Amino acid sequence: MLVASNRGPVSFGFAADGSLTSRRGGGGMVSGMMSGLTAAARQDDVLWICAALSDADRAVARQDPGAARAGGEAPVRMLDIPPVMFTEAYNGVANSVLWFTHHLLFDTPNQPRFGPGFRRQWASYAAYNETFAAALAEEAAAAALPPASVLIQDYHLALAPRLLRNTRPDARIAHFSHTPWAPPDYYRLLPDDVARAVLDGILGADRAGFLARRWAGAFLDCCEAVLGAEVEREAGRPAAGGCTAGGSAGGTAGRVTYRGHTTEVAVYPLGVDAPALRARAREYDVEAHAAALAEATRGRKLIVRIDRTELSKNVLRGLAAYRELLVTRPEWRGQVTHLAFAYPSRSELAEYRAYTERVHELAREINDEFGTGDWEPLILDVKDDYPRSLAACRIADVLLVNPIRDGMNLVAEEGPILSGRGCVLVLSREAGAAAVLGGDALVVNPYDVTATADALHEALTMPAAERQRRCAALAATAASLAPGRWLADQLSALG
Ligand code: F6P
Repeated sequence: MLVASNRGPVSFGFAADGSLTSRRGGGGMVSGMMSGLTAAARQDDVLWICAALSDADRAVARQDPGAARAGGEAPVRMLDIPPVMFTEAYNGVANSVLWFTHHLLFDTPNQPRFGPGFRRQWASYAAYNETFAAALAEEAAAAALPPASVLIQDYHLALAPRLLRNTRPDARIAHFSHTPWAPPDYYRLLPDDVARAVLDGILGADRAGFLARRWAGAFLDCCEAVLGAEVEREAGRPAAGGCTAGGSAGGTAGRVTYRGHTTEVAVYPLGVDAPALRARAREYDVEAHAAALAEATRGRKLIVRIDRTELSKNVLRGLAAYRELLVTRPEWRGQVTHLAFAYPSRSELAEYRAYTERVHELAREINDEFGTGDWEPLILDVKDDYPRSLAACRIADVLLVNPIRDGMNLVAEEGPILSGRGCVLVLSREAGAAAVLGGDALVVNPYDVTATADALHEALTMPAAERQRRCAALAATAASLAPGRWLADQLSALG
């Protein structure tokens, strides 16, 4: 089995003495795939192909491609893609154009503007995809028992399925989108040839997977509207083996026939390996952070958010809602603390640097406006600290997850699983997770700051029995969508 993704399960760095250090790759896709492989006991027969992201990764890729292993288990092949090509493909196209499109992030009076610069970046994106497709074809040819199953991940690699099919028509190819998918009117912001190429690329796969039925539906709509492909839609049929939570949340969404090939489009919601997560959260470092956070917040009610400082995560409106809560319900002043962990993300992009600045500014304003000698209303921390995040989930009274748009959102699932207090989840209706968790969360329109402030108040005042009941239901749903099953369902569908 071959897995391909931009970010791999391991990344390397250089220590002060020049020796190599390694750490686990970050992000929802990597953690879902890693736990899926572990649970399905497929580490032995997998090869994970990813891009070398840093100089240290490149050094590994050049000297000893076999040295890269994920957590000492799954073998990894890192592709030494020329830095300029990588930057143009990753920052220029994947992050600045495709990510913005699927998350509806463009400030449309000004952006996007597709000129010669974009055309150069698009050529790099195509070459980057060709590099992956060539490596996959080579590894598929080397596989002991062809045809190989090839799992291609995400928007970075939208062209790779078609390119691979052209050279290895025998391979069984799946593409999985961990992001939302844009509706046709918005998707059509892309230049026409690019819009067609991205769809055509994914339709080179036998299966196209999505985290939520909404995103699969939007993909089908785009195939019809943009390509004029033959699209058949299936209404809410549960997956083979059943996809419990949310009833029709998982399963076949439809099929697309284009250029003589049919691609099955299906939905696989991704949850959390609850036993492993709970065990990790009982370790000493998490205990220590939980004690320190409890001390810092001194028994006050706790509203927690944990995100990358990512435009789609809507941190600014979340902070504005907290401010509105303190303005309109002054009884909460001194009684509540907001812990906002906003880890650095994509700081190569000017929009992200400016956004991060504004988050800091707003946080300062809130503390200046409401803080007192013995109460800091908002604790904003940007240091990426996994054990501390787990600790915050354990002690949260309210978890705020309010993205503008999100493929799924694993924090919304991890929080209730870890909660020791029966935390209330305030959840954006635009997160894929809302399809499975919406019934037991307080669901909000992420653009409506006042409604979000109201939901925070409702969450803070919810009776204990109701909080416990909802939290237990959320945890059960998230645990039922375990990554092992997410992966196993995809593999069995691929045949
Ligand atoms: O949402 C899909 C995803 O692949 C996540 O796994 C990850 O958080 C993000 O997109 C990619 O982030 P990065 O650019 O840091 O690899």
